Amino acid sequence: MPKNNNFRLPSLKDAQIRTKETVKIEHNLFKLPEPTRNLGVGRKFFLRTYGCQANERDSETIAGILLEMGFTRTDFEEEADFILLNTCAVRKNAEDKVLGELGMLKKLKTKNPDLMFGLCGCMAQEEEIVQLLLKKYPQVDLIFGTHNIHRLPELLYNAMMTKEKTVEVYSKEGEVIENLPVKRFGKHKAWVNIMYGCDKFCTYCIVPYTRGKERSRLMNDILAEIQELKDTGYKEVTLLGQNVNAYGKDLDIENGFATLLEEVAKIGIPRIRFTTSHPWDFTDDMIDVIAKYNNVMPAIHLPVQSGNSGMLKIMGRRYTSEEYKSLYDRIIAKIPNCTFSTDIIVGFPNETDQQFQDTLDMVDYCKYDLAYTFIYSPREGTPAARMEDNVPMDVKSERLQRLNEKVGLYSNMNNQKYVGKVVRVLVDGLSKKNDQVYSGYSEENKLINFTGSQVQEGDIVKVLITDVKSWSLNGEVVE
Ligand code: 5AD
Ligand code: SF4
Repeated sequence: MPKNNNFRLPSLKDAQIRTKETVKIEHNLFKLPEPTRNLGVGRKFFLRTYGCQANERDSETIAGILLEMGFTRTDFEEEADFILLNTCAVRKNAEDKVLGELGMLKKLKTKNPDLMFGLCGCMAQEEEIVQLLLKKYPQVDLIFGTHNIHRLPELLYNAMMTKEKTVEVYSKEGEVIENLPVKRFGKHKAWVNIMYGCDKFCTYCIVPYTRGKERSRLMNDILAEIQELKDTGYKEVTLLGQNVNAYGKDLDIENGFATLLEEVAKIGIPRIRFTTSHPWDFTDDMIDVIAKYNNVMPAIHLPVQSGNSGMLKIMGRRYTSEEYKSLYDRIIAKIPNCTFSTDIIVGFPNETDQQFQDTLDMVDYCKYDLAYTFIYSPREGTPAARMEDNVPMDVKSERLQRLNEKVGLYSNMNNQKYVGKVVRVLVDGLSKKNDQVYSGYSEENKLINFTGSQVQEGDIVKVLITDVKSWSLNGEVVE
């Protein structure tokens, strides 16, 4: 076992290095060393996940590892022997939530001095945050990052046995580590990583620093995983990557994502989704594959960030607003029933009223079904954080509000079009609010609440849409 005081702190400077070195793909790296094997027997863990789907999927791996160590999972912090927060660093408010939670949970330690606190995920990759945790949050016993989840057994053993703080964060390009344990949280829908990291370095974004370089899993590993999911009854997979369109570039696969998507479609799992797509490398071949296969869902998340070409340039997005619109037009021409969601940042440093107006115009053009809208949040170490910003916060807030009003308008307008139509819904289960009502998502990724008899979780049923709410549709089963 490693000796303690094995402090390995993150460095943003190291994290931004990109070399041409071939990525290592490890198939046999994970092991459960003897003393860690029964560490969890009689103990419970509580795991909370913040942020994006990549974190959700990482948490499935973390849970898989902890279960193999003999832990059981609890949904109640008070019952836990090990509390782990898998964190997000994309905006300051995500970090504040975690820090607030750490403050709240502190009191549990007075009741149970043996309780272990851990923090992992993107915040662990940030120098400033780890320093803050070391200084002001003594309750945190264990910190590890996004590159060394497979080391959790040894690190936790270390922290528990020595009762000393254990910090191990790598700031490196990263490998691809296969065959880690996994406890899938969904019974019918599964996340499948196809690649990790990001090399886009949009000027506002911390992700390329926290998640390393763009690196793809081997196509055979991905296809085998999806085949197994299909064989065990899964109905839907979502292919995950910070930028799935870059799939295979590092493996010299031509037309990587289009090729992969077609191979996945041929496996015949009923539903395939993917996220996130960067507009810059969204190819016409990809559009053709989505159009050709009925099991590739007609719903695309296509972050625009801004509708102004000057702003996009400073953001480092590599496309103009005209190019984005042209991509949108090409997709709609081939996939007329396609729905669109997007991400938009308002109040980027020095954004003018006119530039913001261009963003509103973009929303008018694309009539998004759904938009995740954010006020720009400076991230230490990124180029944008060093830009001077002359836009006052109240202006940013007012822009966000105006944007949200417009987004809501189109969401509602798009939803109205479904009234009287029949959609196919994958049943998630009974609605959380009403146990007479089922809920699930349509192929277009609309949330549908509906009534019907003999409906089972995991079924795909036809639902007639009867009326519309702001963020969902209501209906009844017709078959
Ligand atoms: N401030 C605000 N929003 C951000 N995003 C990424 N970085 C920042 C930031 N510094 C948004 C982008 C991205 C989404 C996941 O989060 O819109 O697409
Ligand atoms: Fe961040 Fe841009 Fe990479 Fe998306 S593409 S993760 S916004 S750097």
